[in-house]
Amino acid sequence: MRAADAPTHGGRVLSYVYDSGLAELDELADAAARLARPLNGLDPTVFPSIAAMERDVIGFTRRMLHGSRSVVGTVTSGGTESCLLAVKTARDLWRTSHADSAGGVRPRLVAPATAHAAFIKAAQLFDLEFDPVPCSPDGTIAATDLIERLGDDVALVVVSAPSYPTGLLDPIAEVAAAASGRGISCHVDGCFGGFVLPWWPGLPAWDFRVRGVTSISADVHKFGYAPKGVSVLLQRGRRRQRAQYFATTGWAGYPIVNPTLLGSRSASPLAAAWAIIEHLGDDGYRRLTGSIHRVAHAVRGAVDDIPGLRVIGDPIGPAIALGSDDSVPASERVDPHRLADAMVGHGWKIQPQPGLVQQNGVRIAHSAHLTLTPVIEHRIGEFTRALAAAADEVRGTPAADPWLLLATLRLLGYGPGGRVPGPTAAWRLLRLAGAGSVSADRPMATLMALLERLPRPVAEALLIELLARMSEPR
Ligand SMILES: Cc1ncc(COP(=O)(O)O)c(C=O)c1O
Repeated sequence: MRAADAPTHGGRVLSYVYDSGLAELDELADAAARLARPLNGLDPTVFPSIAAMERDVIGFTRRMLHGSRSVVGTVTSGGTESCLLAVKTARDLWRTSHADSAGGVRPRLVAPATAHAAFIKAAQLFDLEFDPVPCSPDGTIAATDLIERLGDDVALVVVSAPSYPTGLLDPIAEVAAAASGRGISCHVDGCFGGFVLPWWPGLPAWDFRVRGVTSISADVHKFGYAPKGVSVLLQRGRRRQRAQYFATTGWAGYPIVNPTLLGSRSASPLAAAWAIIEHLGDDGYRRLTGSIHRVAHAVRGAVDDIPGLRVIGDPIGPAIALGSDDSVPASERVDPHRLADAMVGHGWKIQPQPGLVQQNGVRIAHSAHLTLTPVIEHRIGEFTRALAAAADEVRGTPAADPWLLLATLRLLGYGPGGRVPGPTAAWRLLRLAGAGSVSADRPMATLMALLERLPRPVAEALLIELLARMSEPR
């Protein structure tokens, strides 16, 4: 079955997987994970090795992010769980501090429109109003636009280091200072950049050195190079962090105390992460970040030399978004989704991202995302030559425009303000759109254009159906 999967090593897939290029890390992670396999992370009082590994992982992350001893933390199962817990904590603290005045008020979560979707999920799950602040077409957010939205009903403001879709660093110091002045929690989402930016040259302070930053998430299963299932959430102050916990003696069984969302949990990802962090240490991460820095420099240089293509905004760190250069005539432009489809033919997978029309009507450009990993340094020439060749193949081909499909869907009642398809209708629509089966090498440009233009509830129903059908027994 694994033969059908996209390659996880070698850097050919520029999203989802984070290959350091160091073969020994796989062996090390496997050995540590195997040792911890029978444990249950539910109860470190019974299995103290779990607490010991957590102390080391949290300690390393805290030093890396310049936290003082008042910064404490938790190892979670991944970026989404860290973000969920940061939101739950802030909401609970807001509820406590607004107990007298909040009657009936739903707290707000303010974030740039480029913040990770985990915060939309958190707002849904924990009953906050998600308030996305519009960015410029290249994904830049102005500090003043975020600060203007900070009112008494705001439980949390989120900034990213960097944001996934664009690789841009949000104006963290300005926003955190303003939040702190108003007594509002401020989370820095370092899920993506947390284990890279500490060694990236020339950045302004974005971590616990910044006054007003109350929590930071950093994923060990991304640029910490650990297998999936590990992230760290750090919170400033014990009192704040304790609001994250769930404990109860109100049932008939064993006393329950959970720092995270799960009950029983595997200790294997933690053990693997612990071993890798111990092995790499500060020097190892510095060296690997040096590779990514050189890769980013080379990729940006190569894109500058490709007519019709551009790097969107001024990204820092390991994420770059490629977009069409609309300053040249249409016949010379390179559409990023056509480029992504063409790159498959050259053996590389870059990630198409649909455009986003924001509440104020300003559209964040559609793009192709590149997660740059150290292993790419070994074949950087091969990668940049493939980019140039793929761009030559698609230059002048306009972005996909599935107008006929959209018109058909409107006729069927799935247009703006229309109905939302149930499972059977959604499956039929997917097949009508030619998206009834997916594979790593399937062209994505039309599907992405469709997802951007459909009413969101319809697009979301189609996505759910696509994934749900994949694991339904036949
Ligand atoms: C900035 C950012 N936050 C949160 C997440 C969610 O992380 P995960 O996929 O580990 O749940 C990601 C994932 O790419 C991310 O880039």
